[in-house]
Amino acid sequence: MSHFSAIAQVPGDPILGLLDAYRADPNPAKLDLGVGVYKDASGLTPIPRAVKLAEQRLLETEQTKTYIGGHGAAEFGERLLQLVLGTDSALLRDGLAGATQTPGGTGALRLAGEFIARNLPGRSIWLSDPTWPIHETLFAACGLRVEHYPYVGADNRLHVDAMLEALQRIPAGDVVLLHACCHNPTGFDLGTADWQRVLDVVKARELLPLIDFAYQGFGDSLEQDAWAVRLFANELPELLVTSSCSKNFGLYRERTGALIVRADSAGRLAAVRSQLALLARGLWSTPPAHGAAVVAEILGDAELKALWSAEVEGMRQRVASLRSGLVEALRPHGLAERFAHIAEQRGMFSYTGLSAEQVARLRTEFSVYLVSSGRASVAGMSEARLDYLAGAIARVCQA
Ligand code: LMR
Repeated sequence: MSHFSAIAQVPGDPILGLLDAYRADPNPAKLDLGVGVYKDASGLTPIPRAVKLAEQRLLETEQTKTYIGGHGAAEFGERLLQLVLGTDSALLRDGLAGATQTPGGTGALRLAGEFIARNLPGRSIWLSDPTWPIHETLFAACGLRVEHYPYVGADNRLHVDAMLEALQRIPAGDVVLLHACCHNPTGFDLGTADWQRVLDVVKARELLPLIDFAYQGFGDSLEQDAWAVRLFANELPELLVTSSCSKNFGLYRERTGALIVRADSAGRLAAVRSQLALLARGLWSTPPAHGAAVVAEILGDAELKALWSAEVEGMRQRVASLRSGLVEALRPHGLAERFAHIAEQRGMFSYTGLSAEQVARLRTEFSVYLVSSGRASVAGMSEARLDYLAGAIARVCQA
């Protein structure tokens, strides 16, 4: 008898599956605009110099590989909290926020989902339409009811009024997931006035925001990207934030992130954190140490931090120039107007507006890999390949 005979094969992950297909493609002209990883002009995902230097120090100074605690390394948590909430945050001074280290931002989302499912029963989670596809499956796997509010419409434009109107109808107490910056998958972000309006609704409806903060530094700057998170943390008594070090520290495979909790008293914070430690024990026991040690080393050393901040800013500026470069490369094809939004969006991703059929043609005819939703990882482009990409887009856009 086969124990596995009734197991159905499921399609691969919509994003990571693309990586496998890209790697297996023998076409030397192939272009990977699928998974959100930054690539330099030579197509390599570099290890930041600050990370290398921190690793060298760790190699010399690290004395043990014993477990770190359920909340992870204390210095990592303290320094990440400062990066996210600000070095002068009154919340940190008053002990009203804590970080639980997780395997990447996805681990933080999973921990948040499990916490909501077990400790806040009956609450639904509301996601933007569209959102990162893993949000959908991850929260459903936690047993949460997943609902949606409008965000970007079929016209590939941000619909703030429709979003606010929908938020106003969410039952009191429900959880609303917001993207702090660099919205994944669209690249369309809320402006400061929009955030203020969202905050007003969140307060009025007594919603619990879960802010996904995976791209700090890729929008406007490390500080500016944290603006909405800090606004919400200072204005609301309770908040959850998932922070990722994958992109801005280039630590993708080291799985480094945290779930940050802001509570209205030290006692409530301690209670929530005790539940998180219990849940984490059943999920991954204790988090991986290396990436967090690197982050703590960088953030705890003024020189390394300055070097790292400059490297993040370099990546951010290069992605921004690739955006405008692609629009210019599309100009000779008469498509600059149609794709002007690519230069206006923020972060690693662009919702191009290309259809699933056009994305499929890009892949089969040109070995250009995008997510079928039309999301392109601009961070995966290179200056030298913009003309090739623009030509391919022009071909699939021909009637
Ligand atoms: C993406 O959306 O491509 C990134 O967040 C990486 C991932 O894990 O999917």
